[in-house]
Amino acid sequence: MNQHATTSVLVSRAGRVLVAEIDNSPVNALSHSVRAGLSAALDAFERDDGVEAMVIAARGKLFSAGADITEFGTSMQQPFLGDIVARLDGSRKPVVAAISGKALGGGLELALACHGRIASAAAFALPEVRLGILPGSGGVVRLPRLVGVEQALEMIAEGKELNSPEALACGLIDRCVDGDLLNAAIGYAAELAASSDAPRRTSALPFPPFDEDRQEEARKRYARKYPGREAPQKAVELFAMASKTPFDDAARREYEVCKELLTTSQSRALRYSFQAEKAARRVETVLNNVQPREIERAGVAGAGTMGRGITVALLNAGLHVTLYGRTETSLERAREAVAKTYASAVKRGRLTEEAVNDRLSRLTGTTGISSMSGCDIVVETISEDLDAKRTLISAIDGTVGDDTIIATNTSFLDLEALASATSRPQNFAGMHFFNPANLMKLVENVRAEKSSALTLATLAALAHRLGKIAVTVGPSEGFVANRMLSKRTREALFLLQDGATPAQVDRVLTEFGFPVGPFALADMAGLDVLAATRASRFDGMSERERSADIVERLVAAGRLGRKSGEGYYRYDADGRKAEDPAVAELLEIHRRERGIGARQIGDAEVLERCLLALVNEGANLVDEGTAARASDIDVVWTRGFGFPVHLGGPMFWASERGLPHILDRLRHYSCAVGEEFFAPSPLIKQLAADNGRLVG
Ligand code: 3HC
Repeated sequence: MNQHATTSVLVSRAGRVLVAEIDNSPVNALSHSVRAGLSAALDAFERDDGVEAMVIAARGKLFSAGADITEFGTSMQQPFLGDIVARLDGSRKPVVAAISGKALGGGLELALACHGRIASAAAFALPEVRLGILPGSGGVVRLPRLVGVEQALEMIAEGKELNSPEALACGLIDRCVDGDLLNAAIGYAAELAASSDAPRRTSALPFPPFDEDRQEEARKRYARKYPGREAPQKAVELFAMASKTPFDDAARREYEVCKELLTTSQSRALRYSFQAEKAARRVETVLNNVQPREIERAGVAGAGTMGRGITVALLNAGLHVTLYGRTETSLERAREAVAKTYASAVKRGRLTEEAVNDRLSRLTGTTGISSMSGCDIVVETISEDLDAKRTLISAIDGTVGDDTIIATNTSFLDLEALASATSRPQNFAGMHFFNPANLMKLVENVRAEKSSALTLATLAALAHRLGKIAVTVGPSEGFVANRMLSKRTREALFLLQDGATPAQVDRVLTEFGFPVGPFALADMAGLDVLAATRASRFDGMSERERSADIVERLVAAGRLGRKSGEGYYRYDADGRKAEDPAVAELLEIHRRERGIGARQIGDAEVLERCLLALVNEGANLVDEGTAARASDIDVVWTRGFGFPVHLGGPMFWASERGLPHILDRLRHYSCAVGEEFFAPSPLIKQLAADNGRLVG
């Protein structure tokens, strides 16, 4: 092949087929240099009568991740992707897309405009909706013509990904190959050129019917599933428009809508969240070029709920796991729980029996800690008892190799007290998973005083391998997640004292976008557990916080939350919750005894106090260095506690409102509620004075 590079596209000839390979590491984003390269390749293709077909392929691990996100918000340079796509669609000679790895967003739109699509094992998605936008280069107007309205809606309004067999079955691609993709694509392109048929243009296919009933149903479905989100609703509108509008006009409207969505604050927040998650992965130690250690064998010490979830997460990522339980009975229960998790995945079609057998074959149970000796990492995950944890960690330390990393899953114990139980403090750190550990995306990796760069880099890489978003934080009581949560919980309790009801606070926060309010969450966690946590923090509490002993009173009345059928709410046999007059009465007595006069509290105050409690504590965590960046706080809250991602997270939310305003409101509540709770963080004061932002 005679090959020459045009910007980020390599152009070559294979007989009478022109081959254009995108080469823009790391993810073949369609940056200006790629668009210019494709445009030049099309010039050559159209000019040269010696070539009769073209293949668009890519170098590297994936076909294309789509538009270059870093160009959003800048003045985009021509040629635009829409121009290239239109030229492809209109080409009188056939063009074939050869898709490997992934075709995402604009990358898939490029392929949709080709006349043939052939793929090896690959994934296909239009994930624009996750960035608060929609495809803007023909994805909306072309995809339904190939795969039908329902499949296309799921992909466009929800970001659903298809694999190659699924893509083949629904008509998104024409062929699937196991072997040499490029050669197969060249052969396919030559076949199309040899055919007497004109190239098959997706734009010439009819748009499938999308009647008003289906539109209405889709609108309602997305309002329920994605409350407050603009882009899924716009997708339905665009489908309705495209179903009755000539192709070119519909394509123009699609582009306009994509451009309009780009300027919305939801899209800014979602794009910010994408970058925040990437930034969180850049642990300083990784930037210092530390190569993470290879982890193949993991130990999980503790067979309770957390240990089981962590075991599943490790097995899913292909690791060998040794699970330690104190007794054969606890181990057996854990094995059953793991098997049950997998059985339900098979039932829901998420895993095959074969995949489950492979996972279970990598699991070994043990009641002897010495079985951990061959592990590259051991995660300790027994209950939060400092002495018991120290004893177990010391036993692990005595049995594993010198290089083994020991991580603790504690959520609030003093990390140094645990590190000192090992002879290898450099190989020790926190790895704080959230329950259920196999499902929750967030992991807080916690730096102990002597944790080495290698240890932290390895934990970050391991979390990534488990499909988690890891944030590396410094030690502090409750780290980042629980320390901030405790401030919101405290504020929610004060709101009850002042006259709000649990149902009001929960409603306001779920209307804001949290999946569950603080009191419903407390009932799930168990009020006895929360009362025990409060007792452990009692010495450090202020008088007012001690006096807000509502949880203790509920527990004394036998109300332990969901598990006892009564907590802040009462629950029926099906687990449906309802307000309980007994709780209103308990609150009334509490206020009377404390001499607090109840007042009507507006929803705006409820929301503001709960959010400002988070914002202020988040700023303190950044200020004192527990969080490396303010955006890490937002990752913790969007991934760990369901802060609505289209609002960015507490730090983004505050920055959008303007820090002078936030400072003003903090000062207001400092007077109204108490200085010790709302005394503005020094960082907020400083940024407000400079009219700066916490993030973004
Ligand atoms: N544009 C620019 N940079 C991108 C990018 C994109 N579309 N996608 C990923 N990157 C960058 C990442 O920021 C990261 O940079 P860093 O190393 O400096 O942090 C680097 O590429 C590698 O990415 P990951 O660390 O995420 O690598 P993974 O292998 O884990 O994942 C991926 C790769 C699956 C491509 C993932 O990055 C991803 O999902 N990217 C987003 C894809 C997307 O949303 N595409 C739609 C874009 S919008 C569009 O196309 C509009 C169109 O309709 C006009």
